Amino acid sequence: MSENIIMCENLVKIYKTRDLEVMALQGLELTVKRGELMAIVGNSGSGKSTFLNMAGGLDRPSAGKLFVNDKDLFAMKEGELRKYKQKDVGFVWQNNARNLFPYLTALQNVELPMRFMKKEKKEEISGKEYALELLERVGMEHKRHSKLSELSGGEQQRVAIAIALANRPNLLLADEPTGAVDTKTSGYILDVFRKLNEEKGLSIVIVTHDRNLAKKVNRVVRICDGKVSSEEIVKESYEERFKEVGDLEMASLHESFAVLDRAGRLQLQKEDLMKIGVKGNKVRIEVQEDKIMIRAPK
Ligand SMILES: Nc1ncnc2c1ncn2[C@@H]1O[C@H](COP(=O)(O)OP(=O)(O)O)[C@@H](O)[C@H]1O
Ligand SMILES: [Mg+2]
Repeated sequence: MSENIIMCENLVKIYKTRDLEVMALQGLELTVKRGELMAIVGNSGSGKSTFLNMAGGLDRPSAGKLFVNDKDLFAMKEGELRKYKQKDVGFVWQNNARNLFPYLTALQNVELPMRFMKKEKKEEISGKEYALELLERVGMEHKRHSKLSELSGGEQQRVAIAIALANRPNLLLADEPTGAVDTKTSGYILDVFRKLNEEKGLSIVIVTHDRNLAKKVNRVVRICDGKVSSEEIVKESYEERFKEVGDLEMASLHESFAVLDRAGRLQLQKEDLMKIGVKGNKVRIEVQEDKIMIRAPK
């Protein structure tokens, strides 16, 4: 078993529509370690959902390499891909209507995907017990007999997380899971993710617009035009620091990195370039002993 749960190299995805080709991923390089909890941020249209859909086996990449859970997503046949989606990954969307049945209860909703599982994955615990355990993990056991249609958006989202875990995946992919809920629920959902990550060792990738949420994970990768442009890594364990400083100062605990691609290209943030007065497409570069200076042209 390799130490990376997701490994993608030079990943390209081209969407072809009737009169247009969109290159949604333009050589994405990204690895996610087993047991990691990380976030992907980036402007709308930058390719975040495309990447998540490729990793989740919902759509096929066009070129490059993509391995998840040591499986080559390129080499997979349709049948293998179907199995992969059922067993290896769990998916949570912003709009959870995609995996919920409104006329069934919370418990029935979580039990349902377990019915389609092969015996090997059922293990000792019966479906019902495990479904209850999952509802407990997301703090929804008290509403287990409520129909989904009777729950609030945030509560439905918590059930959606339990459903995504019903097949015991070791990777959870969440596409803007807090995009449609209030701040309090958003915090609660993040805590659920953190606990699942810490207690169950679940690897989790969250795509988010939520700056507060992004600040609370160990690594934040920014995607820009279908490529990784920068990365922020927490300097110390969030746990230790969180006790000392509050929510507001979390940003300062991250160390920022720009990412070099294979050709040595570097992408800089527009805002940063504006700050130093770069207007055109040239910068002045000066190599000093242990650093490289980038300045606006004279
Ligand atoms: N099914 C599709 N067909 C055509 N173009 C698509 C499709 N899905 C996404 N795109 C395009 O690919 C680019 C990346 O989209 P997406 O991954 O959804 O971005 P994000 O999730 O970061 O907002 C956008 O330009 C989008 O319009
Ligand atoms: Mg998206």
